[in-house]
Amino acid sequence: MKKIPLFFISFIFYGCLTEGNRNQPQTYENPKIEALIRQMTLEEKVGQLNFYVGDLFNTGPTVRTTESDKFDQLIREGKLTGLFNVHGAAYTGRLQKIAVEESRLGIPLLFGADVIHGFKTVFPIPLASAASWDLEAIEKAERVAAIESTAAGINFNFAPMVDISRDPRWGRIAEGAGEDPFLGSEVAKARVRGFQEQSLTDPQTMAACVKHFAAYGAPDGGRDYNTVDMSERLLREMYLPPYKAGIDAGAATIMTSFNELNGIAASGSQFLLRDILRKEWGFKGMVVSDWQSVNEMVAHGNAANNAEAAMMALKAGVDMDMMGDVYLEEVPRLVNEGKLDIKFVDEAVRNVLKLKYDLGLFDDPYRYSDTIREKNNIRAVEHLEAARDVAKKSIVLLKNKEKLLPLKKSIGTIAVIGPLADNQADMNGTWSFFGEAQHPITFLQGIKDAVSGQSRVLYAEGCNLYDRSKDKFAEAVNIAKKADVVILAVGESAVMNGEAGSRSDIRLPGIQPELVMEIAKTGKPVVALVMSGRPLDLSWLDENIPAILEVWTLGSEAGNAAADVLFGDYNPSGKLPVTFPRNVGQVPIYYNHKNTGRPYEGDYSEPLSERIYRSKYRDVQNSPLYPFGYGLSYSTFEYSDITLSADTLNAGESITASVSITNEGPYDGEEVVQLYIRDLVGSVTRPVKELKGFKKLMIKNGETVKVDFTLSSDDLSFYRHDMTYGIEPGDFQIFIGSDSKNVKEQHFVLKN
Ligand code: GLC
Repeated sequence: MKKIPLFFISFIFYGCLTEGNRNQPQTYENPKIEALIRQMTLEEKVGQLNFYVGDLFNTGPTVRTTESDKFDQLIREGKLTGLFNVHGAAYTGRLQKIAVEESRLGIPLLFGADVIHGFKTVFPIPLASAASWDLEAIEKAERVAAIESTAAGINFNFAPMVDISRDPRWGRIAEGAGEDPFLGSEVAKARVRGFQEQSLTDPQTMAACVKHFAAYGAPDGGRDYNTVDMSERLLREMYLPPYKAGIDAGAATIMTSFNELNGIAASGSQFLLRDILRKEWGFKGMVVSDWQSVNEMVAHGNAANNAEAAMMALKAGVDMDMMGDVYLEEVPRLVNEGKLDIKFVDEAVRNVLKLKYDLGLFDDPYRYSDTIREKNNIRAVEHLEAARDVAKKSIVLLKNKEKLLPLKKSIGTIAVIGPLADNQADMNGTWSFFGEAQHPITFLQGIKDAVSGQSRVLYAEGCNLYDRSKDKFAEAVNIAKKADVVILAVGESAVMNGEAGSRSDIRLPGIQPELVMEIAKTGKPVVALVMSGRPLDLSWLDENIPAILEVWTLGSEAGNAAADVLFGDYNPSGKLPVTFPRNVGQVPIYYNHKNTGRPYEGDYSEPLSERIYRSKYRDVQNSPLYPFGYGLSYSTFEYSDITLSADTLNAGESITASVSITNEGPYDGEEVVQLYIRDLVGSVTRPVKELKGFKKLMIKNGETVKVDFTLSSDDLSFYRHDMTYGIEPGDFQIFIGSDSKNVKEQHFVLKN
C-alpha cells in the first residue's frame, strides 16, 4: 500500500483542531488519527504501544541488550513507538528519519527520559526545590529543564514524580515534594506548567508525565516496590490530590506505579485507571506503565502469565507497555483468538497517536532534533543562574546557636571537612543521568570563591561515605584545630537515596557520626552542611553542633548556593516539606496526624501519673526533631495575632484571615507564611492540622507586612463518614505561622 504522506494529511485537518486549553490535553476527535488507525494492521497498532529503553543506560532491571542496530530494524517494522533514555539531536534525528521514511506508515517516534531535576544544568533534587516553597522558582527550573532536554531530542518527560511520602526510609522520597497533599499539589502544578507551558506544539515544551499512579510512596516498611494497603479515605485525602493537580494542570500523560494497592497492582487497576483517572477526573491523555510493571502483575499474583497481564492492563487502560514486551508478544494472538476486544487496542493506539499529534510530531517529526538549538541551549549562563537561585532558596536552616551564621568572608581560617566537601560526583544526586560529574561546584569550591583574599581555607576529607576507616580522622582533626570555624559536609551519596534506595537506618551513613563527634571534640565552632535525599536522624548533631543547614542535594550550583547562605549573601528561607524524626523508630511521623483518644504533646516533665497512660514512647518524645514547615532565618519574624473577617463562615462563602509580620532583623529575608486549619469534630476524626495555604514573601529588615488568606467553605471539604465529599458544620481552629508548630491560633464556626 502506498504510504500516505502524513504531514500532508495533517495539514488538511490541522484546521480542525481546537486549541485545547492548557488544563487538559486536546480532546478533539482527530480525523487524521482515525484515518490512520483504519490503515493500521494489528501488528502496527501493537507496535505503537511498545516502548523500549535505548542503549545509553538502563533505569531498571536489564532485560535485554538490544544493540542499537536492532532498534533500526524494529523501527522499520513499526514495532517501536519510541525509545527512552536516548538523547542527542543527531541521534534522535537519525532514528526519527528511519521511522518517518523507512516504516510503512511513517509514524514518528517519541523520545522519553527522566528529566527529574534538570538536564545538563542539574537543579536541586525535587525534595529540595519543594523545600523552597517557591512555586515560581520551581516552574522556572522545569522550564529550563524543558528548554535543554527538548534541544537534545527529548519530547516526553517522565516527570513530575508527585508521590506523597511520610516515610524517610523510602529512597524515592527524594524525588517528590514530601508529606503534604496541599504543598504537593501546588508543586505538581508548577512542574507541569514548567514542562508544558501553554501548548505542546511549542518545540521547547515536552509532555509531562505525572507519576507513579498511585500511592507508590506508602510502601510497607518504607521498602521500595513493597505492598501498599490503605483506606480509600486516606488514599483520597492524602495521596491522590497531587496526581489530580498535575492532571488538572494539563499533564499529557500519567505513569502507573509498581506497587499493588489494596490487592490490585496499579497497572491493572480498573479502580485507579478507569473509575478515578478517566471517569472521575476526566483524564484524556495517555497512560504508560512503569518499567515492566505490566509483566510484574504475574509476580504480584494478579495474573497467571504475561497474556493475562496484558489483558488486565489493556482493559484497565494502560496504553503503553514500557520495556515489558508483553503487548508486542501477547496482544496480536489474544485479539486473533477472540480473547481481547480490538477496541481496547484501538483506544490505546488513539491515546498514543494523539500524544504524538499534540507534540506536533506529525507536522514536523524533526522539531526536537535540532543540533543548532542543542549547541546554543545546553548549560546556558542563565540556566546556571536559575539553578543557583532555586538551590539557595531550598536550603533549610535547622539550627543557628548564638547566631554563628552567617560567617564573615574575612574570617581568618576555615576548615572544610567531610566526604561531601569536595565531591563533585555526588552533587548531582539521584536521577541525574544527563548531568556530568565534572560540572558541579563543590562546597569547597564555592567557599573558596566566596571568601576574601586574606582568608585561609583548609580541606580534609575526614572519611569516605562507605567504609568504616578512621585513617583520615587525624588529618581532619588537625586542620580543625587550626581553624576559626569548621564547615562539615556530611550526609548521603547520590546512590543512597532514589529508586531502590530504601534504608532501614536513617542516621549519617558509615563512619560519619564518629567523624562528627571527633570534630566536635575540638571545641571549634562547627557548621554542618547535611546533604541528603531524605530526612536523616540528626539528633546527635542537634544536641552538639551549633549550626546545621539541610542542603539536600543541590546539583550544578551546590557550592555557590551553599556559600551564598553561609556568608549571608542570601538569608535562608527554606522550610521542610517533610517531618524530620528524632529516630527511625518514630516513623511514620507526620504533622497532619490524628489526635487519638489519649494524645500526648508533653515533654515528659509532668508527674508520671499524668502521662503514663498516654499515646507515647518510653524512650523518645512524641514530637519530631524538626516539624513539617520548619526552617529558620538569620532574621526574626514576629507574627501578630490572627484577625478574621468574621467568626462564622457560611456554606458557599469565604472568610479572610490576616496577620501582620514584622521582620525584626537584622537582615532582609523571605518568609513562608503558612495557614493551617483543624476541624475539631466530624463524622470521622480529622487531622490535628491541615495545610490550606502558604505565601512566600520578602520582608525587609524592620518592615511590617500584612498577609491575608481567603478561606472558602469548600476548602474545608473532606470525605465524610459515607465517603461523600463535602463540608460539615462545626467548630474550626485556624493557624497561621512560620511552621506547623510555631503558629498563632483563632477559632471560627462553619455553618451550613
Ligand atoms: C523506573 C522508574 C520510573 C522511570 C522509569 C523509566 O523504574 O520507576 O520513575 O520513569 O523506570 O526510567
